[in-house]
Amino acid sequence: MEPITQKLIHSFGALADLGQEVASSGDFSEMVRTSLHLLLGTLAIRRGIVVAYSGEDKTEPLAVWGLEEDYQPTLTITEADRKAFLASKRPVTWGPASTPDGPEDYDFIRLYSDELRGQHLELLAPMIVHDSLAGLVVLGGKASGEPFTEADLEVVHVMVRHIGVGIHQHRLIGEVKSQAEQNRRLYEDLRAIYRDTVSAFAAAIDIKDKYTQGHSERVGKYSEIIAREMGFPEEEVEGLAIAGYLHDVGKLVVERGIINAPYRIDAKQSSELNRHPAAGFEILKSIHHPYADIPLAAKYHHERIDGRGYPDGLTDLQIPLGAKIVSLADSFDAMTTDRPYKTRRSFDEVISDFRRNTGTQFDVVVVVAFCRALLKELSGETTERSFVRMLGKNYLDSTRDIPLLRELLGELAPAQSAVAGR
Ligand SMILES: [Fe+2]
Repeated sequence: MEPITQKLIHSFGALADLGQEVASSGDFSEMVRTSLHLLLGTLAIRRGIVVAYSGEDKTEPLAVWGLEEDYQPTLTITEADRKAFLASKRPVTWGPASTPDGPEDYDFIRLYSDELRGQHLELLAPMIVHDSLAGLVVLGGKASGEPFTEADLEVVHVMVRHIGVGIHQHRLIGEVKSQAEQNRRLYEDLRAIYRDTVSAFAAAIDIKDKYTQGHSERVGKYSEIIAREMGFPEEEVEGLAIAGYLHDVGKLVVERGIINAPYRIDAKQSSELNRHPAAGFEILKSIHHPYADIPLAAKYHHERIDGRGYPDGLTDLQIPLGAKIVSLADSFDAMTTDRPYKTRRSFDEVISDFRRNTGTQFDVVVVVAFCRALLKELSGETTERSFVRMLGKNYLDSTRDIPLLRELLGELAPAQSAVAGR
């Protein structure tokens, strides 16, 4: 094979390697350094530098190869040079074989020729991408001492363009990343505002009902815990927390006297109170949460598996899962807080209620998730203290309650696997 053909094949190989390197998504400075090394290897050059240029006068060194260790190039590019580089696009040498447009035409070379010669650097190639200057590659002479040929300069020109594309791409990715980061922060702010608005709303609901202060917030928190235990993705968990916060929003349209009645209400009052799920749905129906049907959870949080709930008497599979979760959270909070006509139940009474009503009022899967989450907290499997915070320090007793929970979970296991299998 003729030496010229061999050289051509070698250059093509190097170009392919360079293309791969430039397109890799790995470490940027490693990419520039490897690219420079490939370029040096192709023409048997011992030293070189790559500097980035981003519009200011100053350039920023990206890779240095084969130079004295303490050499820190601080090179600036004048406006006249920028234009000249863009016009010629070609490499310039000031070594033994100068290129036709002489080095003296460039401020850069007038300014730095001594410094660069001192480092045995004698060729400069502008990196031009999309008609703008992305940086410079400055190279030493060939190891053989021979002057650069036209073909060598062509190889340098092509390879430097490749490196320029890599640098340009990196800048673009950087810009996209910072834009995405900005968007993420904006989104987080919006979410925080949304959450704050929802909890303010929940507080407004609870203010109307003076005996159940904090009820909506606790139902939100219990719903969140159950959903997380059931393995829902975090966005859905948040949606269920919101559904819990807002489940009783319909009470805003129920007469205050009925909500705050310090005695058991009569049938007429009770039917007035029972309007609240449907009223809640009307209030919330314009909320389109991407992951949880919040209006439906409010509408059906008083439905029961056996169809004896309200407002529509739906049965098991007709009831949305979100509503089943909110329903259990709601009932648990009702049982464990004092009401005007009754004091709260003890924990073993709550467990008995769950035992009696799972499969008729409550969904077995939801009860199991609730018990598991509570068991995790009581047994120290998690550092969360949500239940203790909501129930007060003295309500739960792990020595007494862990066996109760384990026993109930054992009893519910067959029903739960039957549901899983259907
Ligand atoms: Fe309710």
